[in-house]
Amino acid sequence: MQTIMLMNAKGGCGKSTLATNLATWYADEGFKVALADHDPQGSTLDWLEARQDYEGIPEIAAIDAVNGPARAPRGTDYLIMDVPASIHGKDINAHLRRVDTMIMPVLPSPLDIRACKRYLKELSKNNRIARGQLRVGVVANRVRENTRAFHELEAFLNGLEIPFLGKLRESQNYIRAAETGLGIFELAPSQVYADVVQWDAIIDWLNEQ
Ligand SMILES: Nc1ncnc2c1ncn2[C@@H]1O[C@H](COP(=O)(O)OP(=O)(O)OP(=O)(O)O)[C@@H](O)[C@H]1O
Ligand SMILES: [Mg+2]
Repeated sequence: MQTIMLMNAKGGCGKSTLATNLATWYADEGFKVALADHDPQGSTLDWLEARQDYEGIPEIAAIDAVNGPARAPRGTDYLIMDVPASIHGKDINAHLRRVDTMIMPVLPSPLDIRACKRYLKELSKNNRIARGQLRVGVVANRVRENTRAFHELEAFLNGLEIPFLGKLRESQNYIRAAETGLGIFELAPSQVYADVVQWDAIIDWLNEQ
């Protein structure tokens, strides 16, 4: 089983959006996927509940990791963990204990860049990250090309020692998918093409191991 965690100390950067869409990508490929919600807000569990309204879409197992252990059902291929913002100190180590891969979404804003810089410094103290037992990558999210804010983010992410996996554009498709319990990969292909292609680089990196 591969365990992938979406993490960033900053709120609203797209952790849950990436978690739910990644879960659907693997589920649509035929893998057995479990999605663990560590956030007391429970928005990922709400999304999973909305998903139950559909027939004929792949099932994703729900794990309420706030009220119980984040244990995936037997036979799970991918466990995706969505954690809340502001995980610091010892909680970082506890969350990363069984994680194979961590992806950090970052928004194009000076505040988010500064917060990301600080958080990466904090994360580098984690033993598993320091020993290279855990892969870490960053993704630029809610990108509007040709904006100064994005160019600044791109320059910052390109300058990091950890891989910059790719960018996801600002798109209403993510908001629509979040409301309906679907992933963007499950919406009408003609509507989501420009979003879907942006995932290729992220998925390629995930499949590299
Ligand atoms: N690429 C995108 N395009 C448009 N909207 C997006 C995109 N990514 C995320 N959003 C929207 O931004 C908001 C915050 O995203 P999300 O809930 O995924 O962030 P989060 O990091 O999980 O937040 P929190 O820290 O509160 O858990 C949501 O309304 C989501 O639909
Ligand atoms: Mg969230």
